[in-house]
Amino acid sequence: MNQPTQWIDLRSDTVTRPTPEMRRAMAEAEVGDDVYGEDPTVNRLEARAAEILGKEAGLFVPTGSMGNTIAVKLHTTHGQEVICEARSHVMNYELAMMAWFSGCLARPIPTPDGILRWTDIRKEYRPLHAHFAPTGLIELENTHNIAGGVVTPKEVIDEICDEAHNLGLKVHLDGARIFNAATYLGISAAELCAKADTVMFCLSKGLGAPVGSLLVGTREDMARARLYRKRLGGGMRQAGVLAAPGLIALERMPQRLAEDHANARLLAEGLARVRGISIDPAKVQTNILVFDVSATGLESFEISRRLKERGVLANGISPSLMRMVTHFDVDRAGCERALEAMEQAVRY
Ligand SMILES: Cc1ncc(COP(=O)(O)O)c(C=O)c1O
Repeated sequence: MNQPTQWIDLRSDTVTRPTPEMRRAMAEAEVGDDVYGEDPTVNRLEARAAEILGKEAGLFVPTGSMGNTIAVKLHTTHGQEVICEARSHVMNYELAMMAWFSGCLARPIPTPDGILRWTDIRKEYRPLHAHFAPTGLIELENTHNIAGGVVTPKEVIDEICDEAHNLGLKVHLDGARIFNAATYLGISAAELCAKADTVMFCLSKGLGAPVGSLLVGTREDMARARLYRKRLGGGMRQAGVLAAPGLIALERMPQRLAEDHANARLLAEGLARVRGISIDPAKVQTNILVFDVSATGLESFEISRRLKERGVLANGISPSLMRMVTHFDVDRAGCERALEAMEQAVRY
């Protein structure tokens, strides 16, 4: 079979390409040396990100992983534990950075739905003890990627933050897709994150910018974070060319995320009708679908291969689980074509 020229790429929302407006903004960006704090476009992006998230200050970082790494470093000392959900990105997909850079051990808590609650966390919290490393930080992920784009509600985050703060602990929110969560809940990102000490969010996922993430928090924390960013090799000089599309992503793209959520729901409803695929469309809240393919008699990797032959890209995350992610480079018609391809792919 010939390979198609126009892929329907549902592997991730990281695959989005910059819009023509973003490309123009890159070409025209006003720049300076950001290591000296002199790039006006980066400064504008950081200030705007902090304002939108309701925090004092922001720091532009090349990736979400670097933002999370810096946050763990900010709030912990070597030899502490970081409580996180068992399927979290920070623990599973960031090359053990919390151990490598911050000398911390992850204390993962499995949950059925990807939502950490204070009752789960309280059981795993450890003060310093003759045998225990103390808890140094609580890390939350909203939306939760591998749990299928699941949203942690504001009340759950608020309770965790209140209880953590009573124990003298900080809370970092991996909000790579925080605007998807806010869209689902119908509240602002600032309201949703009001009590978190730091928040990382990505410009380069559903918001469509080519590169970049933001870490936001107190002015004092962001001044320290700037030094950790430099240590990690993230001092980016004339980074205004990257901040300029980021500003467009931040201002314009959150408003359209509901479209991606509707497409994800359409995909879920279609997949639920495909023989051997198990997914509950009612549980699809945002732009990520994780579904079980074991009853097709095929491993996810074989289904990926067959989909690719039909012009659709989607990854297996284990032999029995596959993930699809909707974004603004795949429209409703693309999702319908992906469903047709899936029906053919699982047929012998
Ligand atoms: C929940 C979550 N956190 C963090 C990241 C890391 O972002 P980056 O790929 O920019 O390092 C990702 C990336 O997929 C993610 O899904």
